[in-house]
Amino acid sequence: MNELPSRGLGRLRVPAIGYGAMVLSPGMYGEVDEDRALAALRHALDGGATFVDTSDGYGEDGHNERLVGKAIKGRRDEVVVATKFGFRVPDGAEPHRFPVGFEFGELAVNAEPRYVRGYAEASLRNLDVDVIDLYYPHFPDPKVPIEDTVGAVAELVDDGLVRYLGLSNVTAEQLRRAHAVHPVQAVQTEWSMWRPADPDLLAAARELGVGVVAWSPLGAGFLTGTVQRVGDGDFRRNNPRFGDANLAANNDAYVAVRGIAADLGITPGQLALAWLLHQGQDVVPIPGSRTPAHIEENLQAAHIDLHADTLAQLDAALARATPAGGTLLQNGGR
Ligand SMILES: NC(=O)c1ccc[n+]([C@@H]2O[C@H](COP(=O)([O-])OP(=O)(O)OC[C@H]3O[C@@H](n4cnc5c(N)ncnc54)[C@H](OP(=O)(O)O)[C@@H]3O)[C@@H](O)[C@H]2O)c1
Repeated sequence: MNELPSRGLGRLRVPAIGYGAMVLSPGMYGEVDEDRALAALRHALDGGATFVDTSDGYGEDGHNERLVGKAIKGRRDEVVVATKFGFRVPDGAEPHRFPVGFEFGELAVNAEPRYVRGYAEASLRNLDVDVIDLYYPHFPDPKVPIEDTVGAVAELVDDGLVRYLGLSNVTAEQLRRAHAVHPVQAVQTEWSMWRPADPDLLAAARELGVGVVAWSPLGAGFLTGTVQRVGDGDFRRNNPRFGDANLAANNDAYVAVRGIAADLGITPGQLALAWLLHQGQDVVPIPGSRTPAHIEENLQAAHIDLHADTLAQLDAALARATPAGGTLLQNGGR
C-alpha cells in the first residue's frame, strides 16, 4: 500500500485524498459493471485512498455500500468507512421533499429519529462491518430539526455502531445546532474550483474544529478538462452546467485555469485537487473514478506544492471564470 500524507477531520485521521464511491453505481455516471467497480475501489485502497465515502442512497438497494463491503473484506483495519443515510425512505414512511435547484427539481429524505437505527443496521449489513467510522445524514430533513436527527446518531455512537458523526449539505447554523447536541467531526459540502464553499460554513467548521470533506472536487469531472458532452444515462444531464451549450461555454471559460496546470506540468484535475488541499489543512477531497489511471493521477495531487504566486494567479483566473448554468444542489433542510 502506498502512503499519502494524512489529515485530521476533527478527531478522525484520514489520508489527504479519499475516494468517493458514488461513481461506481449504475445510473450515476453511466454504466459500470461489478468487476470494474471492485477493481477501481481496490486500486484506490492500494494507492492509499483508504478513506472511502459511500451512502445507502447510491445505487439500488444498498448497491454502493455492498461494493465497498466487498472491497474492504480482509482489510477493514486499513480503511475509514464513511456512509450516509436518509434517501432510502422505508415503506410506510413519508418522503420529505425539498427543492434542490437541479433539473430533477426535488429530492426526498426521511431523517426522523425513529428510522435512524434501522438505516444504520442496514448499512452495517451492506458494508459487512461492525461499526461505521463516520456517519452522516445525507441531507438535513425539511421536516425534522437537525438536533433530533443527530440525537439519534449520538445513541448509535453510545451503542458502538458508529464512531463519529458527520454532516452533509448543511448550513453554518445547522452545523452549530447539531454540534451542540453531539460533537461533529466532519462536514461534507460541494467544493471545487467551480463551486466556492459557503464562507459561513467554513468559518463555523473552523471555529468548532470540524474537518471539511469536499464532494465533487473535480466538478463531477468538468475540472479535468476531459468532458465535452455528457450522454443519456449520466446523471449530469440533470445539471444545467453540463447542458451542451453551457458545457461548451464553461470549457471556454476554464482555458486560462487549464493553462496554469499546463505551465506547472500537471493535469487540470491534479490542479483542482491540489488547489483544494491548499485551502486549509482541514480539507479532504473525495474524488471518484472508475479508471485506475485516473485514480493514480488524482492521488499524485496529494504531493503537489503550489506556490503562493500560483495560488494568487489561480484565484484571479477563477474570478474571471464564472460558470454558466446557475447554482447546484441547495439545502432545503431545517
Ligand atoms: N454529500 C453529497 O450530497 C454528495 C454529492 C455528490 C457526491 N458526493 C461524494 O463525492 C464523491 C465525488 O463526487 P463525484 O463523483 O460526483 O465527482 P468528482 O469526483 O468531482 O468527479 C467524478 C468524475 O470525474 C471523472 N474523473 C475522475 N478523475 C479523473 C481524471 N483524473 N481524469 C479524467 N476524469 C476523471 C470520473 O470519470 P472516470 O470514472 O472515467 O474517471 C467521473 O466522471 C462521490 O463519490 C460521493 O462520495 C457527495
